[in-house]
Parts: sequence; C-alpha cells; structure tokens
Amino acid sequence: MKFQGIIFDLDGVICSTDKFHFLAWKQLAESIGITNFTQADGDLQRGVSRMESLEILLRKSKRQFSDEEKFALAEQKNNVYRQMLGTMSKTDLSENVRTTLFALRKSGRKLAIGSSSKNTKYILERIGLGSFFDAVVDGNMISRGKPDPEVFLKAAELLDLPPEECLVVEDAAAGIRAARAGGFEAAGIGDAANFPATTYPLTLLSDLLTIL
Ligand code: BG6
Ligand code: MG
Repeated sequence: MKFQGIIFDLDGVICSTDKFHFLAWKQLAESIGITNFTQADGDLQRGVSRMESLEILLRKSKRQFSDEEKFALAEQKNNVYRQMLGTMSKTDLSENVRTTLFALRKSGRKLAIGSSSKNTKYILERIGLGSFFDAVVDGNMISRGKPDPEVFLKAAELLDLPPEECLVVEDAAAGIRAARAGGFEAAGIGDAANFPATTYPLTLLSDLLTIL
C-alpha cells in the first residue's frame, strides 16, 4: 500500500460545515455594515484560521478595529456558528463519506483529521465520529495555520508515519499548499480538484477508493 495513512481536512471534506461558516461570517459582516460579503470572500476563508478569516472579512470594512474588538467579533461569529453546529446530527454525515471512511478503515489504513478548526472535537461528536479517528489534530493544537504544514505534520507524527506514506484530502487552496509544503501528496475535492498542486482530483470522497 502506497498510503498507509489518510489525513482528512474536516470542514468541506468530511462534512458541509463550510456553509455554516459562510452564513455566520455573513451575519457578522452585516452587523458591522459590510453588505457586500460574497461566497467568493467565503471561499477565501476556507482552510485558514478563525482570526485570518476575520481579517479577510474586514478587508471589506472602511473602519479600523482594535485587537480587542477583533477578538470580540471572532467570538460573536463563533457563537452564531456554534448554534448552527448544534443543529447537526449523525444524519449530517453523508452516506458517501461514511461508507468511504469505513472501507478505508477496513483496508487497514490509519485515519486522521488535520483541521484548522477549534470546533473540530464538537463537530466530530455531533456527526457521530467522536472516537472514530486514530488521530485528531485541530486548531487548538497548532501555532501556525494552513498553508503552513504544521497541522498535517503533527497528524502524521501521531499516526507514526512519514509524510510520503500519508495522503492528505482537502477542499481548500491553503490546505493543498500546506500538504505539499509538508511533503504530502494531496487529493482535492470541490474547487481543490482543479488546483495544479492537487495530485488526485476527487468528485466524491468515495473516488479515493479507486485511487488507492
Ligand atoms: C477551517 C475552515 O476548517 O477552520 C475555515 O475551513 C475556518 O474557514 C477554520 O476559519 C477555523 O474554524 P473555527 O471553527 O476554529 O472557527
Ligand atoms: Mg476545508
């Protein structure tokens, strides 16, 4: 087996929490007078940390915000986002993702999450994967966000595998860049299927089963 380990991004790969991120950021934008926050802005926030996502949003504001105000804004967004996450359940894990994860587990591979999100554990619990993965590295455990490879290198270390034996699965430009910077091959889903640095384009997560 070329890849003994698979490291999955969470938001936009395992579950569709990216739509909640967008709605919560849009609500925050409107609360501070930004009326032109679009899905294209939301796409730029994919993969990057909460505070970097806020900076992307604030580029659309004419006002300057202090660090204290920025923390309060990020907290405001996260509260709205967590309420949305609270509506999630096992039914938010798609059949395609569920069967793919179980097939990969059955093949003997080690499976990990490498996510920028500080809500990772909560999300995994909501969708019934709270104790499924062999390793989970999230936004609370890293000091440099994607496109820095830290999150994926930590996950590979916890799986006790070198980067070249792990495949990273991502939906974000920042995530594909992080993977390649860490010496990993990358599978891309959604827009990431078309990035030049993506090794394996995926239409559905189950396409992994034909690649491996
Ligand atoms: C990533 C998302 O998974 O997590 C980003 O793609 C988000 O858009 C980042 O900013 C941080 O998420 P959280 O849940 O810690 O605010
Ligand atoms: Mg993602």
